[in-house]
Amino acid sequence: MSYKDQIDTSRLPQHIAIIMDGNGRWAKKQGKNRVFGHTEGVKSVRRITEACAKLGVPYLTLYAFSTENWGRPPAEVTALMELLVHSLRKEIKSLNDQNIRLNTIGDMNALPPKCVRELNDGMNLTQNNQRLTLSLALSYSSRWEITNAVKQIAEEVKQGKIEPAQINEQLISGYLSTHNLPDPELLIRTSGEQRISNYLLWQIAYTELYFTEKYWPEFNEEELYRAIVEYQNRDRRFGKL
Ligand code: IPE
Ligand code: IPE
Ligand code: MG
Repeated sequence: MSYKDQIDTSRLPQHIAIIMDGNGRWAKKQGKNRVFGHTEGVKSVRRITEACAKLGVPYLTLYAFSTENWGRPPAEVTALMELLVHSLRKEIKSLNDQNIRLNTIGDMNALPPKCVRELNDGMNLTQNNQRLTLSLALSYSSRWEITNAVKQIAEEVKQGKIEPAQINEQLISGYLSTHNLPDPELLIRTSGEQRISNYLLWQIAYTELYFTEKYWPEFNEEELYRAIVEYQNRDRRFGKL
C-alpha cells in the first residue's frame, strides 16, 4: 500500500512546518554549484505546496532563509534573493489559481526592496484565498521574533495599555509573526541534520518532529505522505496520560 493510501484524511495535521535543508549538498553530489541546488529546491516547494493543498492541509510554513543565512557569501545571498523574486513572478498566478494564500514571517525590512515588492504583490493578489496558507519564513529566526515580541509588549506596558498581570501565553502568541497561524503539529527537516536552527521555537512546544535523510531537492510527494503517516502513528500525550 502506498503511503498516500495509509493517510487518514480525517486526522491530517492542520499545520506542517518544514526546514528545507540540503540544497547545497545535493548539488555538490551532482558536481554542480550550490545555486543549482537552490533552483532545484524551488521545484520541491512547488510539489509539496500542491500536495498539501490537494490533501487538505490548510497551513504550510517553509523555512526559506534564516537570519543567520545573511552570513553566507554575498554571491549566494544575492542568488537566493534573485531566485525568490524570479520564482514569485513565475509561480504566483498558479498559486492564486489553486486558491492558495501567500504569507510571510520574518523581518521583511531586511530584504531587498525588489523582494518586498514582489512579496507584497503576491500577498495582495492571494489575500482572500482559503484553501491553503503558504507562509514563507524569510530573514526569520525565532529569537529575532521573540525579542521583537518582548519589545512590543514592553512598549505597551510602558504606555499603560497592558498590565503585566495580563501577560499570558495567548497574549505572547499574539505578538509573534505567526499570530494568525495555529501551532504546527508536524515539523519536517530534510538532509539528515537533527536540529531546529532557530525555527519556530515557541510554536513547536508540542510539535511532532520528523527527520529524513533526503535532501530538499529530492523530497517529493511520497516522502511527504510518509512523514504524515508516521505523524499519525505517534502517540501525542501533551504531558498527560
Ligand atoms: C537550504 O539548503 C536552503 C537555505 C538554507 C537557504 P542549504 O543551502 O542549507 O544546503 P546545505 O545544507 O548546505 O546542503
Ligand atoms: C536552516 O538551514 C535554514 C533554512 C532551511 C532556511 P541551515 O542550513 O541554514 O541551518 P544549519 O546551518 O545547518 O543549522
Ligand atoms: Mg543547510
